[in-house]
Amino acid sequence: MTHFKASELFDDAPVKRTSDQWYQRIVDQYSVDEDEYMSQLVALAEPEEKYRRAVEATARRIVEQVRDQGDVAHAVDKLLQQYSLDNEEGVILMCLAEALMRVPDPETADDLIRDKLSVADWKEHMGKSDSLLVNASTWGLMLTGRVTSLDSRETSPANLLSRLINRAGEPVIRAAMHQAMRIMGKQFVLGRTIKEAIKNGKAYRKKGYTYSYDMLGEAAFTDADAERYFQSYREAVKTLGERMDEWGDAVPKPTISIKLSALHPRYEESHQHWVMSELAERVEQLVSEARALKVGITIDAEEADRLELSLRLFEQVFRSEAAKGWGQFGLVIQAYSKRALPVLAYLTALSKSQGDEIPVRLVKGAYWDTEIKLAQMLGLSDYPVFTRKENTDVAYLVCARYLLSHATDGAIYPQFATHNAHTVAAIAELAKANPERPFEYQRLHGMGDALYDTVLDEGNPRVRIYAPVGAHKDLLPYLVRRLLENGANSSFVHRLVDAKTPIGDLVASPVELAKSRPVFRNPKIPRPGELFGQSRRNSQGYNLAV
Ligand code: FAD
Ligand code: 2OP
Repeated sequence: MTHFKASELFDDAPVKRTSDQWYQRIVDQYSVDEDEYMSQLVALAEPEEKYRRAVEATARRIVEQVRDQGDVAHAVDKLLQQYSLDNEEGVILMCLAEALMRVPDPETADDLIRDKLSVADWKEHMGKSDSLLVNASTWGLMLTGRVTSLDSRETSPANLLSRLINRAGEPVIRAAMHQAMRIMGKQFVLGRTIKEAIKNGKAYRKKGYTYSYDMLGEAAFTDADAERYFQSYREAVKTLGERMDEWGDAVPKPTISIKLSALHPRYEESHQHWVMSELAERVEQLVSEARALKVGITIDAEEADRLELSLRLFEQVFRSEAAKGWGQFGLVIQAYSKRALPVLAYLTALSKSQGDEIPVRLVKGAYWDTEIKLAQMLGLSDYPVFTRKENTDVAYLVCARYLLSHATDGAIYPQFATHNAHTVAAIAELAKANPERPFEYQRLHGMGDALYDTVLDEGNPRVRIYAPVGAHKDLLPYLVRRLLENGANSSFVHRLVDAKTPIGDLVASPVELAKSRPVFRNPKIPRPGELFGQSRRNSQGYNLAV
């Protein structure tokens, strides 16, 4: 076991290791002790007091400007504000939304609806928001004409619901829920086809944004699905490439984001021989077609247990003739992963060994709930992700500092994806130390509009919008991640539109918050083995993915 010391990356003379040596550190860092590791990270995130004050001041200015614009929340934000994940009703609706779309037969779907909707206190939420969508209440129920007319005569949602179930029955609610998901999906998807998405994005391009298009689809279960997603990516690359001239020079060129799990039904460690042959071949083909048309490619980050496999695949394609000498083949790194920093060091070494820049999108990570649950199911010794949000924020700052440092000059093109004003401000401040260094911000379509309009008005940064493209049937997993993100009461976007959250809390340093805790790790999230407390130890599994 080789011990990784985060400070190595910031030493005047950073330790030189090969990508293989860094790879070993990634492996060993899988679930390191959070308290021990965080004590290293807090010392690196905010080296100076004056930096912290400058960041808070910039973040405050941004938040004030956004809030001064008045009502910037989308209808979906308001809904998630009211039915947030800290109340029972919010959790029920999320469960329904998530589960209902997967239930194949109507009878079971109706049983699920009856079971879920009968237990919560819906009247609690009536009249608590000025949003029509919220007040018509109970998520989606108003969205069929039939229910709206009931609503006008009935002001109590509790009564409305029971009357509704009695009179209209679960099938109406089932249809309404499906319709509600469609409406919400619209907020997060730019177009059904790449052509439509390019057209729909024109107004944003005029404002100064550029795009990374993502063809919806992930977790292919059959080779037929994988082949279909592969063809849709090829089509997107071709269409985008053919229209590159329309893009002009005002904003950076658009790129395509790819999920590896869409491209092979056995994208898993136990099938690495297929991954490194069949899946790698598909990625190589996409890379060479994209390169010929000057369309950059980014590999999205998915579940933690796919990280090592994804890096090996990335390295193989990066070193292939398809990508050699290109510098536009990049990937996403998740800061909530305890392994993020050694991964960045590995990528720096990889880039330097070949002389090609690697675009790296730094995100916090969208699969947190899944990671926690998977580690508990497996009974692992600890989690691969941090257990407090502020720890992830701190790790993000340390990763950002490294990505903007001279150590990665020419090796990595940093892209910072966040909707958090404090994080945006921290990056702007960090960038001052290396002013010649190009970098960009990124946001998701349907999120962070007001925040980045403000940032664009203030200066001239590059901002890219990640825009999902595709049909409703492929949207569900993406949509659920967005609903979790917007509905979590710890999320910046959730707190930004909640007028009750004071600006001081929104822009406070995560480092200070992390340090104010008696211990860094979250005591409410026991280690996976201790899940059942005193009653029994959790059964121990083996993680075959690392
Ligand atoms: P914040 O509200 O500041 O942070 C929220 C994040 O904190 C959560 O998403 C989670 O990562 C973390 N968090 C929350 N609670 C806890 C906790 N208890 N313990 C530890 N950490 C916690 N995500 C991917 O996984 N893969 C991708 O490829 C990817 N691509 C993206 C591309 C773009 C352009 C953008 C904008 C986002 C992308 N994301 C991706 C999603 C991204 O991970 C989330 O949008 C991001 O985490 C939200 O961070 P924030 O700074 O906007 O919000
Ligand atoms: C996701 O699919 C945006 O890649 C990110 O959630």
